[in-house]
Amino acid sequence: MKIIESVSAMQQESDILRRKGRTIAFVPTMGYLHGGHTALIREARRRGDYLVVSVFVNPTQFSPGEDLDSYPRDIERDIRICQEEAVDTLFMPAREALFGQRFQTAVILEALPRHLCGRSRPNFFQGVATIVTKLFNIVKPHIAVFGEKDYQQLLVVRRLVRDLNFDIEIVGVPTVREADGLAMSSRNAYLTTAAQRRAALSLHRSLYYAAERVAGGETSAAAIIRACRQRIAAHPETDIDYIAICDPETLEDMTVIDRPVRMALAVTVGKARLIDNMRLTPGSSDD
Ligand code: PAJ
Repeated sequence: MKIIESVSAMQQESDILRRKGRTIAFVPTMGYLHGGHTALIREARRRGDYLVVSVFVNPTQFSPGEDLDSYPRDIERDIRICQEEAVDTLFMPAREALFGQRFQTAVILEALPRHLCGRSRPNFFQGVATIVTKLFNIVKPHIAVFGEKDYQQLLVVRRLVRDLNFDIEIVGVPTVREADGLAMSSRNAYLTTAAQRRAALSLHRSLYYAAERVAGGETSAAAIIRACRQRIAAHPETDIDYIAICDPETLEDMTVIDRPVRMALAVTVGKARLIDNMRLTPGSSDD
């Protein structure tokens, strides 16, 4: 496995691969890799014939007071996992390589960031859209793979690829969960007590409960959100940011569930801000 730290070396590598007719599949990450990341890496391996993974904790998607400095890191372990997964190139630039002193350009989406996580994390999707654009221009992939766990991020990336005419196929991968249903996340490392871990499980359990109720005929979004709010708030150390039932494409709130919708939530448990989401389909529980 090659480890590349410089932007120009990565660009040259991709140019050579493209000239040879190779199909570059790319998985961008912030490291501290887990089973969710490896599912993306395996999907990318299936779809391309040259596999690039990036590890970069992007400062521009954190707001002041968030966990940029304490974000979990273990680069030796990440390197080992990438080797085991037969990654061809691991791109791990230093912060200064991507954001020099006079950096001043941003990619801004109009509507999608007004919803869900964008409300409480105002700079987040600008930071994500900008770093993803930069990484696409550096790695020059044919295919890029993202997780449905970050559903709004997946929509933002799909939108920016269409809007800015990137010639890249975006592939979404379903959320990978622990055996008990908790969505895998680097931030699960912040869950330190059994009570926090139980509280964290209430996210997935609420989504599952909501899917069952909608499958059983419930059409009121407000009724479901109220019931889920109670279930989550029953656990100590939970602080609900949002629980939303929304249009799966625009993310606008829905009141009547008369077609497939997306339910998404964000809850802080102890020090961990956790998110999860699920499709709710009237008449079936299929997710
Ligand atoms: P990170 O949180 O490291 O996630 C990298 C990719 O892994 C994202 O596409 C995310 O959706 C996916 N992922 C994380 N947990 C998952 C799970 N349990 N199941 C399936 N996929 C999962 O998302 C980011 O980094 C950053 O915002 C990034 C896109 C790299 C830009 O900085």
